Amino acid sequence: MPKVVGQISLPGDKSISHRAALFSAIRSGVSTFRNFNFNRDCSATLSCLRQLGVEHAFDGRELRISGKPLEKWQAPEDALNAQNSGTTSRLISGLLIHLPFETRLLGDASLSRRPMQRIIEPLQKMGGNIEATDGHLPLNFYPASQIHGIEYPLPVASAQVKSAVLLAGLFAEGQTVVVEKTPTRDHTERLLRLPVEEDAQGHKRIYSSPQMEIPDISMTIPGDFSSAAFFIVAALILPGSDLRIQNVSLNPTRTGLLDVLRKMGVQVEIRVTQKTPEPMGEIRIVHQNFKNITIPPELIPNIIDEIPVLSILATAGQGVLEVRNARELRVKESDRIRAIVENLRNVGVRIEELEDGFILEGPQSLKGGRVTTYGDHRIAMSFAVANLAAEGEILLDDPRCVDVSFPQFWELLKQVVQV
Ligand code: S3P
Repeated sequence: MPKVVGQISLPGDKSISHRAALFSAIRSGVSTFRNFNFNRDCSATLSCLRQLGVEHAFDGRELRISGKPLEKWQAPEDALNAQNSGTTSRLISGLLIHLPFETRLLGDASLSRRPMQRIIEPLQKMGGNIEATDGHLPLNFYPASQIHGIEYPLPVASAQVKSAVLLAGLFAEGQTVVVEKTPTRDHTERLLRLPVEEDAQGHKRIYSSPQMEIPDISMTIPGDFSSAAFFIVAALILPGSDLRIQNVSLNPTRTGLLDVLRKMGVQVEIRVTQKTPEPMGEIRIVHQNFKNITIPPELIPNIIDEIPVLSILATAGQGVLEVRNARELRVKESDRIRAIVENLRNVGVRIEELEDGFILEGPQSLKGGRVTTYGDHRIAMSFAVANLAAEGEILLDDPRCVDVSFPQFWELLKQVVQV
């Protein structure tokens, strides 16, 4: 079996890269970013912004975004295309409701199947003039007479919905409050330095209003923890592995996988090198034995993007991995519960599908077989990791779909794999 050895540094976090672009776009002046992730998703955000008159330039090292107030944005000639990116479509919608001209927002086939009602509903409550096709893209945004703040308890644990409402709140009449019961990634409130309180029930209240100044968030973007997850799992399942991942995001609302690993009995070495604006540091992970667990439901939003690769990890663990309360996986870039179950079965693994998760007992050996990625980058990368541990060859129908979040994936994997 091969092993993974050495050290790597990863492209910038996808969630932070989207926000870097969007939050700089609405602030007058130039903001600069290093390690911006020019994957397909974040490039879609940049090109939508360019169509709206917000220019950017990249000199090979630094991305410069020339932001301007919403009043100076221009009417696009064509529809905006969020491509495969849920984050682009949901976050930018919070700004499009404010524009004094009409805009149309599209996406690819996968994004056009994903639920948009979750942002349409609160944005319409704020006065947004939005027309949708049965709660899905394409969306048409028409000028609204007045947009006002709302108090919005999040009905789904979604950082995208939270961020769309808070962004809209920055330009709305009065105050906007988003109330969050289950914690989700906090990049928006952290980067925009929004006021946050905890209410008597322990729920988080996040505020936005036009009185708030939009800060300059120029920075070096930490490596993407969700990308690191594929390498962490590879190191854990391949005997003899010893890997260091440098300059990676250690934002606690993103590193739920590390909490899960600790519960599984895994030792991970972590060194924090930066605390603000976004925590960052180094992770060292060596191959070791571990036991599977039942995932605590409150951790699910924090590991939602890592569940596909967690299913691969569980094939090497002792005992039962149980994932429940993860219905959201069915409305990601693909129906990820289906994709995990069907593809693991294709490579010889017994797994029980649940409506809101799955149950897998380890250890089980991985065989060769064919994997249907459904164009989903995280399914592709998870099974690329599985392939390293498999007895036969695991073949992906669409290896290039990793470009959505991590175009350098294959090259970096090759760098650390030793046969
Ligand atoms: C993201 C939030 C999550 C996550 C997605 C990125 C973000 O989606 O799955 O990859 O950047 O806000 P939800 O908000 O739909 O949970």
